[in-house]
Amino acid sequence: MKVLIIGNGGREHAIAWKLKQSTMVSKIYCAPGNGGTASICENIAFNNIEELAQFALNEGIDLTVVGPEVYLAQGTVDLFQSKGLKVYGPTQAAARLESSKVFAKDFMKKYQIPSAAYETFSDANAAKDYIKAMGAPIVVKADGLAAGKGVVVAFDLDTAFKAVDEIMTERVFGDAGVKVVVEEFLEGEEASLLAFCDGVKAVPMLPAQDHKRIGDNDTGPNTGGMGTYAPTSAVTEEILIQINERILTPTIKAMQAEGTPFVGTLFLGLMLTKNGPKVIEYNVRFGDPETQVVLPLLESDLAQIFLDAVNGNLQPDKIKWQTGKTAVCVVAASGGYPGRYETGKVITGLDKLNNSLVFHAGTKVKDGVLLTAGGRVLNIVNVGQNVAEAIDNVYQDLPQVKFDGVYYRKDIAKRELQRYQALMEK
Ligand code: AMP
Ligand code: GLY
Repeated sequence: MKVLIIGNGGREHAIAWKLKQSTMVSKIYCAPGNGGTASICENIAFNNIEELAQFALNEGIDLTVVGPEVYLAQGTVDLFQSKGLKVYGPTQAAARLESSKVFAKDFMKKYQIPSAAYETFSDANAAKDYIKAMGAPIVVKADGLAAGKGVVVAFDLDTAFKAVDEIMTERVFGDAGVKVVVEEFLEGEEASLLAFCDGVKAVPMLPAQDHKRIGDNDTGPNTGGMGTYAPTSAVTEEILIQINERILTPTIKAMQAEGTPFVGTLFLGLMLTKNGPKVIEYNVRFGDPETQVVLPLLESDLAQIFLDAVNGNLQPDKIKWQTGKTAVCVVAASGGYPGRYETGKVITGLDKLNNSLVFHAGTKVKDGVLLTAGGRVLNIVNVGQNVAEAIDNVYQDLPQVKFDGVYYRKDIAKRELQRYQALMEK
């Protein structure tokens, strides 16, 4: 079968890499793809999703997988479905779980899905009055999509007021800031749980943990994600059961009840609080870089899972994971990211890695030379017998990866390593 993947990140390269292992898949196109997908897919340039749908019809694409949320929020799945094309991902209506924080919060309230207490505002002064009444720490969120930048965790009132001004008055995220959500600050460890969904059932993948800040020890500004590992022991068996019973299953059932069944990957951004797991946010797609550690641990055929999900027929018993192993991903970024950075730097050393996988993000091939083309450039992933081994291996391989200004965090999966070492000492 022929597959089309939409997107150009490390997530899409990891999806392509996994699909490539399927005996069912004969050809993969990636639109627009990157320097890494170019080696296993045919990269396709496009101007808009109508053009892509036409391409899928002309080429006889059997399955399309949509990576980024922007395309889902735009209604890519609805468009492809209207042309009789099979597509893995939620419809525009179901994608509101991510594209509108107001929608997501109201939905969770209606169905009693645990999340932070909140109020919604379309008036800046009213938002500030509420912030004053609640006090800091407090969290201010733009309603709409803001490329992961629309959330401010404020530890003092002035920071919270400034966030309201920027989002609502200055409109730094455009119409995404017509409304804001102001919510309670949750304390705990964060975790990401992704699930395959077929509209009726949700089958969780292995729980992962992201490292969002640019600097070691979670310092500095937020990024798209500087590294991940999976599975995380922060999500114990007991917590996983709670997530399933209180969050995942109720979400899928409620989306069905609302007449907008969820098909695709549902991503729960969770805070593991002392009162149990709570939803920080829903995403309606694979995480980046969560996917880069989760898919290498999937034993089953991903193409079959996607088809089963699209056909409303996921087989939970047939979705198998490598047990006892840990995957660690470290992102190699351009110097300056998430602020200003330069691109077009020559990348070398990828042939010198010992046993790590490489998923490209911001790269491109020009005249046969691999160049940097974005902020997050490469994902170096190692699957080890345990977290200590995976960390050792990935950090032995990273110094081989060379480009001008290369930066990466040195402490990915450190918390898990500490838990692992404590367990070993017992
Ligand atoms: P989001 O874009 O919604 O994932 O938020 C970005 C980051 O802000 C999250 O990964 C959390 O670290 C933090 N965050 C969001 N909401 C809250 C909350 N209610 N309490 C504490 N931290 C939060
Ligand atoms: N790594 C977080 C995200 O994909 O949104």
